[in-house]
Amino acid sequence: MTETPERWIDPERVESAIAALAEHGARGETGVARLVYSPEWVAAQDQVAAWMSEGGLRVERDTVGNVWGYLDGRQGDLPIIATGSHIDSQNPGGRFDGALGVVAGITALAVLRERFGDPERTLAAVSLVEEEASRFPAANFWGSRAIIGRIGTEEPKRLRGYDGVTMVEAMRDAGLDPGLVQDAKRDDIDTFIELHIEQGPFLEHENLPVGIVERITGYRQYLVTLEGAANHAGTTPMDMRRDPMAGAAEIISGVIDTAFRMGRPCVTTVGRAIVTPNERAVIPQQVAFTVDARSPLPEQRETLLARHEALMFEVAERRDLKLSLRVDSDRQPVMCDPALVETIAQAATAAGVPAMTMTSGAVHDAMQMAEIARIAMVFVRSAGGISHSPDEFTTTEDAAAGTEVLTRALHTLAYPS
Ligand code: GLV
Ligand code: MN
Ligand code: MN
Repeated sequence: MTETPERWIDPERVESAIAALAEHGARGETGVARLVYSPEWVAAQDQVAAWMSEGGLRVERDTVGNVWGYLDGRQGDLPIIATGSHIDSQNPGGRFDGALGVVAGITALAVLRERFGDPERTLAAVSLVEEEASRFPAANFWGSRAIIGRIGTEEPKRLRGYDGVTMVEAMRDAGLDPGLVQDAKRDDIDTFIELHIEQGPFLEHENLPVGIVERITGYRQYLVTLEGAANHAGTTPMDMRRDPMAGAAEIISGVIDTAFRMGRPCVTTVGRAIVTPNERAVIPQQVAFTVDARSPLPEQRETLLARHEALMFEVAERRDLKLSLRVDSDRQPVMCDPALVETIAQAATAAGVPAMTMTSGAVHDAMQMAEIARIAMVFVRSAGGISHSPDEFTTTEDAAAGTEVLTRALHTLAYPS
């Protein structure tokens, strides 16, 4: 009989931190609405900074609001090894998306310090800003994009949240200077490992607690706006209408059907629609809706997007509607670093944690970091595959198993063998 290796991570430590973080922006029993730069978000980032200090990490906040905790290495001039995720949530979302990666990163570094002292290479845990774009629709990956230098100087002025507040105002409310966003850029990160809940059904299906990501999906997110002519619902004959709702219905069912017919792994979602005016007896003037289309296979992504766009133009022209297409996010699939994937697989074996390699259908800060660092991800099982919902759940045992694997992988990378 093989013995279970001694665990470095105390599950209770992970569980209590997740519960404490979930109090900031709590919605109902299990939900969280923690929108970037809101008072709840500021309080949660303060909590994260406090945990970093208590764990013996040197804390820094950058100009966009990312919080960094360093375990300084003996070879301080070498590029750093970082881990982390985000603490902003969907509106409302669950308590694990992003938050678990932040908690796991801080826990991992604190435990490594307690057990092994100073590393050879500097390790950093980071809590990133606005991954979800749940407050600012076009600000996905705001924190990680700032780190890789992909925020334009005019962007903070241009971006407006669903609540009407500009990014400039929101940053000022959180005590940050929007004119300094560019200063968050860095070029000293060698490796970034993000731990995250799977947010899908595959680990549960395979009865495994942990996944090791090899590839992250590519995607494009559009805001599609169709403009027609508002008129009376009773007096306007069907053949004399310029009805944007009819066009939207055709496009929405068409894009969903296209992804369905093309088959796995591509997916298309229409998650938000705005009808103006929004009245029972009025043909609308305008219908705007989001289209989120994804595939981890580069060629399939291109085909999917080309079919979606062809349908949008065809329907708009045939129905005499004005179409405007805004692309809010656009990213090719990203490969994880094979050597890092192997390091994580070996860490799982050493920890006695069963794991499999897999693809991420969700997008993550790690895919931005891939522009400046080698990346990999550790996934933990999501109960029922549910996420972006207050029903999101991961057991303490699985959360601790993933943190164990992360901690051991960081140990391999940062401590001398
Ligand atoms: C990330 O939250 C995603 O939408 O995949
Ligand atoms: Mn996330
Ligand atoms: Mn998310």
